Amino acid sequence: MSAGFSRTDGLLRCDGVALGELAERFGTPLYVYSAASVEAAYRAYDAAFAAVPHRICYALKANSNGALLRRLAAWGAGADIVSGGELAAALRAGFPAERIVFSGVGKTDAELQAGLDAGIGEFNAESEEEIRRLSALARRAGRVAHVTLRVNPDIDPRSHPYISTGLRENKFGVDLALAPELLRRARALPGIEVAGVQCHIGSQMTDLEPVAAAARAVAALSRELLAEGFALRSIDLGGGLGIDYTGEGAPDPRALAARVLPALEGLPRKLLLMLEPGRSLVAAAGTLLARVLYVKENRGKRFVILDAGMNDLLRPSLYEAFHRIEPVVERGRPRAEVDVVGPVCETGDFFARSREMEAVEPGDLVAVRDTGAYGFSMASNYNLRPRPAEVLVEAGVARLARRRETLADLLAAEVDG
Ligand code: LLP
Repeated sequence: MSAGFSRTDGLLRCDGVALGELAERFGTPLYVYSAASVEAAYRAYDAAFAAVPHRICYALKANSNGALLRRLAAWGAGADIVSGGELAAALRAGFPAERIVFSGVGKTDAELQAGLDAGIGEFNAESEEEIRRLSALARRAGRVAHVTLRVNPDIDPRSHPYISTGLRENKFGVDLALAPELLRRARALPGIEVAGVQCHIGSQMTDLEPVAAAARAVAALSRELLAEGFALRSIDLGGGLGIDYTGEGAPDPRALAARVLPALEGLPRKLLLMLEPGRSLVAAAGTLLARVLYVKENRGKRFVILDAGMNDLLRPSLYEAFHRIEPVVERGRPRAEVDVVGPVCETGDFFARSREMEAVEPGDLVAVRDTGAYGFSMASNYNLRPRPAEVLVEAGVARLARRRETLADLLAAEVDG
């Protein structure tokens, strides 16, 4: 049986554990993760790139639950972080500092300093100004910062516009053509060592041609820099591999390697290939479990109202993202077209619109699938709703990985104004 979620005897389970039991034990809404599924995804990446020196730096933004992070760190993954908060979470989970890369277009001085203090492996710089700030801070601290420059190759990832990052009009990276000049200046700065070039052109990419084109562009630039005497030690191709949300199929790490590795031919063998996958490691490993509160009809339209809302899972509202939604217990009821919505006071608070699914009734449990990535990590307290609990299932045992927030948590940071 493959790791993760599957149905036996009509019951949806996570690695053998019936989701209904988890709802009883931990309440709803509830995020449920399969450790085995994350491990299988990580190992698939590791195996796919075994032909070259590589490091899989998990992008914490997809899901920064400590239980998952500790396991990824133990399996040998590196970490791709974008904030001081993620730096703290990565260090706490046991990622060795030298396996941490710091990405992000707007790092503050305090965040750069924290990265320097921790001795992280690389800063993925996004502008010359950032490298200058880093140089000043590194010099003051008597440290050397290894910098990889994020370039913007102006390639369309053919994904949702909100998660496209590699086009000229996006705020990310620096113009590919200007990179050599910029790096010549950067190399002369005190406290800076140019370690390599990085790019990340988008997320949920299922067409690998743009990824291959970006890899070719970054490889060509790396060759040029090496020929000029830059002592590059890595090449970072970012994350972005899509997953199969709809059941129509999606490429896997092996397919990615088949497109990317040929682009790197001719580069020195010792160059470390870095990847920054987030979604493709954890999305399929997670399900959001929710209970049906009400089913109501409005002028012939049927609404299924869940106890989970857009504050718990924002992707459908923000990107019109598709997530499979299934009753946890299949009862063979007739199918019907419904809108699956949450309790939040927004028309945009929906999980699916005009979706055909088996009829459900108040009290039934439903599973919103493939929500291990950008689910909890994008959750908020909108409508003063406590964020859900998270549970990790490992070897048939379910453990709480983050308790449900309480009303006291929601108000804890307020001061008398
Ligand atoms: N590296 C960098 C520099 C990134 O900006 C990202 C994602 C990743 C790696 C990881 O990408 P992944 O492998 O997960 O595609 N909230 C959106 C996705 C935003 C992705 C932002 N950057 C969603 O729910 O679809």
